Amino acid sequence: MISRLLLFFCAAGPLLAQDGQQLFTLYCSACHGADGKGATGGTFPPLAESPWLAGDPDRAVKVVLKGLTGPVDVLGKTYNLEMPPQGAVLPDDQIAAILTYVRSSWGNQAAAVTPDFVKTIRASVSDRNAPWTSEEILKLHPLPLEKTVLTNLLSQAYSGKWSSLPDFSTLKAANVEEEHDGIISLKDSPFEDDFAIVWTADFQAPADAEYEFLLDADDAAAVILNGKTVTEIKGAGPMNGSRVRKGKIKLTKGSHKFRLEFLELSDKQGIALGWKLPGDAPWNWLTDEKAQQPKVREPIPIEAVGNRPVIYRNFITGTTPRAIGVGFPGGLNLAYSADDLAPELLWTGKFIDGGPKWVERGTDNNPPAGENVVALNKSRTLPTSARFKGYKLDPAGNPTFIVQIGQQILRDSWAAESGALVRKLSITGPSLEIQIPQPPELTIDGANGKTSLQLNSGQPVTLTYRWK
Ligand code: HEC
Repeated sequence: MISRLLLFFCAAGPLLAQDGQQLFTLYCSACHGADGKGATGGTFPPLAESPWLAGDPDRAVKVVLKGLTGPVDVLGKTYNLEMPPQGAVLPDDQIAAILTYVRSSWGNQAAAVTPDFVKTIRASVSDRNAPWTSEEILKLHPLPLEKTVLTNLLSQAYSGKWSSLPDFSTLKAANVEEEHDGIISLKDSPFEDDFAIVWTADFQAPADAEYEFLLDADDAAAVILNGKTVTEIKGAGPMNGSRVRKGKIKLTKGSHKFRLEFLELSDKQGIALGWKLPGDAPWNWLTDEKAQQPKVREPIPIEAVGNRPVIYRNFITGTTPRAIGVGFPGGLNLAYSADDLAPELLWTGKFIDGGPKWVERGTDNNPPAGENVVALNKSRTLPTSARFKGYKLDPAGNPTFIVQIGQQILRDSWAAESGALVRKLSITGPSLEIQIPQPPELTIDGANGKTSLQLNSGQPVTLTYRWK
């Protein structure tokens, strides 16, 4: 360094603060490259077109003064290196000159940095010794938002009280503003309450495709492309993800007439609009706010494994809180209610999707995941003294539900056999009358069409349930 420094002194006299490029070569280019693309083939992060250099200069000044350490994302690549602090070596005017040069070179287009500005920032961080982490400094100075696909964005604000999106063609805007960054924002709204805004722009579609739009708003909003409403949110309500609407529209590559209508009805305000191409993962936001995404709940199928039934004890939609679900091999399913002491639902196909329950630990029920759901029973018909005594599994895993009524023990066994559910009922102790509901979707062999039958000790009854 020293010899190069001397060389500069000899060749050009003492370096002046305004020699931003030479100072850059001397103090930064070894790591960031003379072309700003990152030295040694991109081992170091680029300064060319880096959003770290754009917008307010606070971020860059602080990095130069104190250095940067740990993982940092620059233009889609993560670096995890260390930039040594330069604050002790470089006076305010030289830092200002370097950053002015860097912020206006290689495609960067940000304003000049003054020595006074660097002086103020230096004073504000004088207590600090450690280099910044990316997270820390971006919290203080977030990266500027990238430009969107909207060009000629114009916001027109209307003052007034409406109950739904008004017919704007009959209204006169109170305020019109050009938004050069193509970012839709309520920050510059001239009104606090009782207003509506229409943003118009050219949507520069990057490809021929079906575009998906996601809208959330507090309160009402509508997205209109080429005169066609793509999606819309009506009425008043919060912007918390619960009112998110999506819509799709086919667009050819090129410019399309874009319009977003917004109405503030009461209380808070917010607007979030994103778009994406089929297969894109993240939304491209056209607004400075992002919509909260409703949680995607991965299905967790619960199914019989091999030849053994699977038991699921949890809230099942359509029966009582204490239900025991049994998924038999072959896609026959049963929900037995330990409250009503009876089988309550039968269905075919998939058993239960455990996702909603297991992921959220909420109170929501799991609906039967399959088809042909039949309600067998909806209330308790056994005497009030009847108690659920649990269930036993036979060696094949088939359940027997056990109920005690005074001296009587009722056993209610279920198994799947050649496309039907086979139920065996038996009792010990005095005889007992039990109800056998006959839903129209099923044939029940063994009940002789009767809706109740008498169970006698030592005389088990077999019923076969089959879908018609
Ligand atoms: C010794 C090598 C080195 C020198 C000299 C150096 N930097 Fe850095 N710079 C780095 C590294 C490494 C990072 C990334 C640090 C990390 O991974 O946390 C970085 C990050 C940055 C960043 C933020 C990320 C980006 O790419 O936009 C800016 C801005 C920056 N440096 C500017 C400068 C300027 C201006 C100078 C000269 C005054 C300079 N650096 C000198 C190594 C250096």
